[in-house]
Amino acid sequence: MVFYFSGTGNSRFVAKRIAEAISQEAVDITTYTRTMDRPEFTDKGVYVFVCPSYMSAPARAMTDFVEWAGFPSGVKAYFIVTCAASMGITPRVTKEICEKRGLQYMGAAQIEMPQNYIALFTTKKVEENIDIIEKAENEIDRIAPLILNGEVLETKKIGSVEYSVTKWVRDVYYKDFMKTKKFKATDKCISCQKCVKICPLSNITMKDGKPSWGDKCTHCMACINQCPKDAIEYGKGSVGKPRYKGPESKN
Ligand SMILES: Cc1cc2nc3c(=O)[nH]c(=O)nc-3n(C[C@H](O)[C@H](O)[C@H](O)COP(=O)(O)O)c2cc1C
Ligand code: SF4
Ligand code: SF4
Repeated sequence: MVFYFSGTGNSRFVAKRIAEAISQEAVDITTYTRTMDRPEFTDKGVYVFVCPSYMSAPARAMTDFVEWAGFPSGVKAYFIVTCAASMGITPRVTKEICEKRGLQYMGAAQIEMPQNYIALFTTKKVEENIDIIEKAENEIDRIAPLILNGEVLETKKIGSVEYSVTKWVRDVYYKDFMKTKKFKATDKCISCQKCVKICPLSNITMKDGKPSWGDKCTHCMACINQCPKDAIEYGKGSVGKPRYKGPESKN
C-alpha cells in the first residue's frame, strides 16, 4: 500500500505515480486521522509512506501515523519525502521509527518538488515549477522499479550533531511557530468554504461567513495556496507572493 499526507498536492502526485508504477493503491492517511479510528493493516506486502519535508524531516502527521497505525510485524517500509531542497534527517528519523515499530526499514528517498511554504519563502515561477515537476517524474521512474524489486534505497548517513540540532529546531518550530494567529481572510473572500474542505486537519470552520482557524494547524499551506480568490494572507509574510496551485495546475 502507498500512504500519503499532502498539503498542496505534491506528495499526493508522487504517491499516485508510485502507486501506479508498483500496481498498488494510494491512500490518503487523513482517511484515518480525521476520525482517529486506528486502522489495523494485515497486508504482508510492501508499505510506502509519502509526505512533505517539514523542517528537514518528514511531516509529523506522517511519522505520527506510522507510530500509531497497526502494521504486520516485519513488513517492508519505504519512505519518500517531497521537498523544495532537502529531506534533511529523514533517513535517521524513519529508520528509528521502523526499529520501534518492528518494520523492515527499506530506506528513504527525496523527490524535489515546488516550494509551497509561502508564509516564509516564495514559490518559483510557473514555468520553473513545471521543470521541477518534470525532473521529479524522472526521479519517480528511477525509484519505483527499486521498490517493485524489493531493493533497499540508498541513503546518506546522518551524523549525531546534525541529527540532534535538527531535531531540536524541529521540535521548537512545531511547538512555537506552527500557529494560526497570523492567518486572515481578506475582503476578497467569497465564503466558498474551499479552505474548510481541503484542510487535512479539519482545522478551519466558518464564522460569520469567513474562515476561522483553530489550533491544530501543521502549516501545510493548503488553505492559503488553494483559495480560489487568493483571499488568505499569513501576516505580512505572504502579501504579494504568488500562490502555489499544485502539480496538476498550469496557472
Ligand atoms: C511547514 C513547511 C516546512 C517545510 N520545510 C521544508 C524543509 O525543511 N526542506 C525543504 O526542502 N522543503 C520544505 N518545505 C517545502 C515542502 O516540503 C515541499 O514544497 C513539499 O513538496 C510540499 O508537499 P505537499 O504539496 O505534498 O504538501 C516545507 C513546507 C512547509 C509547508
Ligand atoms: S477558500 Fe478563500 S474564498 Fe473560499 S471561504 Fe476560504 S478564504 Fe474565503
Ligand atoms: S489551517 Fe493549517 S493545516 Fe489547515 S489547511 Fe491551513 S495551513 Fe493546512
